[in-house]
Amino acid sequence: MNLAVFISGTGTNLKALIDAEKNKYFNSKIKIIVSNKNAKGLDFAKANNIDYLISKDDDEIILALKNHDVDLIVLAGYLPKISPKLIANYKIINIHPSLLPKYGGKGFYGMHVHDAVFANKEKISGVTVHYVNENLDDGDIILQKQLDISFCKSAEEVSKEVLKVEHETLKEVIKKLEEGRCEH
Ligand code: GRF
Repeated sequence: MNLAVFISGTGTNLKALIDAEKNKYFNSKIKIIVSNKNAKGLDFAKANNIDYLISKDDDEIILALKNHDVDLIVLAGYLPKISPKLIANYKIINIHPSLLPKYGGKGFYGMHVHDAVFANKEKISGVTVHYVNENLDDGDIILQKQLDISFCKSAEEVSKEVLKVEHETLKEVIKKLEEGRCEH
C-alpha cells in the first residue's frame, strides 16, 4: 500500500513507521507526510527524503494524495478534524492512546488522555487503532493492545509506556492491512 501519514506533533509514530519500512517489516511505502503546521515530526520526513506538505486546505491535500497514489491515510497525532470529503474518498486509520471507547472523543487527545487515566487510578491502559469515520474516535476498531500501568507514578510515565506500545501496534496494523488480514 502507498501510505500518507498525517501528523501535528513530535512524529514518533511516524518515525516508527519509517523504521518499519526501512527494516522491511511491511511492504507498504510512506509516499507523503501531511501536517497542518510546521510540526517537529517533519524533521523525520526531511531526514528520510520523504515528500511532505504543510497545508490546511482540503483540496490541496487531496491533490497531493492523488499525485502520490495514496491508498491509505494514517493519522498519527493529527489534530484537525478530518473532512467528510477525505473520509468519502480514502480509507483512513487513526491511532489513539487509550482503550477506546474509554477516554476517547472530544478533548481526549495527547496528554489529556493520560491525565484522565492517571487521575482515575486506572491499573491498565492501552492503544487503539481504528478506522476513521465522521465521529471522533468512533470508527471500527482494527487492533487494541492493553498494558499494565499500575506501576506508573505520573501521567507522563503512563504516556511514555503507552507510546512504546503505540509504535509496535501501528506497524502491526499496516502489516495486517497489506496482508488483507482485516475483515473491514
Ligand atoms: C500519540 O500519543 C497518538 O496516540 C496520539 O498523538 C500522539 C502522537 O505522538 N494520537 P507522535 O507525534 O507520534 O509522537
